[in-house]
Amino acid sequence: MDPVSEQYETFPYPERNPKDETRRLVTGSPSAPREIDHFLFGGARDWRQPFRVLAAGGGTGDGTIQIAQLLADAGCPAEITWLDPSRAARDIAEQRAALRGLDIRFVTGPLEEAPALGQFDYIDCCGVLHHLDRPQEGFDALARALAPEGGMGLMVYAPYGRTGVYALQSAFGRLLGGDAPSAKPALARRVLEALPEANWFRHNRFVSDHRVSDAGLYDLLLHARDVPFSVSDLGAALETAGLGLVSMLEPARYDPLRYLPDDPALASRVAALAPLERMALAEELAGDIRLHVAYVTHAARAGSVLAKVTPAAVPRLVGLPARALAETVARRGAITIDYAGVKHVVRLPGAAARLIALVDGRPLSEIARAAGLDWFAFAQAWAPVHAGLTGFNKLNYSRTFG
Ligand SMILES: C[S@@+](CC[C@H](N)C(=O)[O-])C[C@H]1O[C@@H](n2cnc3c(N)ncnc32)[C@H](O)[C@@H]1O
Repeated sequence: MDPVSEQYETFPYPERNPKDETRRLVTGSPSAPREIDHFLFGGARDWRQPFRVLAAGGGTGDGTIQIAQLLADAGCPAEITWLDPSRAARDIAEQRAALRGLDIRFVTGPLEEAPALGQFDYIDCCGVLHHLDRPQEGFDALARALAPEGGMGLMVYAPYGRTGVYALQSAFGRLLGGDAPSAKPALARRVLEALPEANWFRHNRFVSDHRVSDAGLYDLLLHARDVPFSVSDLGAALETAGLGLVSMLEPARYDPLRYLPDDPALASRVAALAPLERMALAEELAGDIRLHVAYVTHAARAGSVLAKVTPAAVPRLVGLPARALAETVARRGAITIDYAGVKHVVRLPGAAARLIALVDGRPLSEIARAAGLDWFAFAQAWAPVHAGLTGFNKLNYSRTFG
């Protein structure tokens, strides 16, 4: 059996107990419907219309269950297909769906066969493409399965934020390569405890899956096939497949000016780079980007689908209660966003606080009216809120999903 298939039969990923569905919904990126609306449908999709979803490499079902449940809650007539070669993962995902009463089509097979299943308005492919023997064939197959006006949410591993991971994967391959998958985690944990101080993995605080479960440890350090994508690698794979990047989930993390001294000479060099090169530079400078979450469409549409600041746009704060955020902005003129200790300061003028306080599901036109501003004055005042918060995925636009 192929070692990757053997791994996911032994350790279906992520480790989930179907019974937990009765007490919580696992949510995350990509594939939160609010994000799909914001990044791929201008924040304005009519969700009463049918929507065909493919979870390619759906695993034990996190993304599949999230989207199926939230679309059902919104009354969207969605058709959801889960596709993955792992029977063990399917068993868990099916139990999760059954416990929630969700209607999902389950197909056991590789994503390279996705085009035979039809055309999809949205494809989720999270944590899969970097494990394929021939990743480009995966990108190409997904592009063929994507409806002309559809979009995808992809997650692929990134090299620099996973510094130390690949040396250990190689070491464990030499040391434990012949063992049965079920025997490896215990031995690997003993090796990890004794790693010398200088080993780079010990210094990498951005990876933690090995602490969560054996499936997490296996996925991070014992994987038989794991080839990360730099920004440049991802850009090249998308281009070959005829796809285009709409946006990374947190575009501000891909702005090299965040990591450079404030110097006009450096800024003009950055300005001279092509957009993808700029992002590649940011990734190389930042050091903490351990995965890329990317929203993509067919190449010709990539520049036109992202939500924009319009009177009808409905802003949604993500994980930030409006009142508390408005108070912080009024007091400090900035907020700090923290990724495992890496802090990004987002400056927001104190005057924006009263606009932020009005974010409660109403459109921007009504926020402007309530603030006593005409559209032109409002758009100027809102611009730093839009740039600062969408930059870190703290603000999406969606008429339907809060
Ligand atoms: C790391 S898990 C990710 C699961 C899920 N997408 C998530 O994020 O929770 C990788 C999944 O990819 C699946 N996989 C491996 N090769 C595949 C292929 N050729 N086509 C589709 N899925 C594949 C594995 O069986 C496994 O369930």
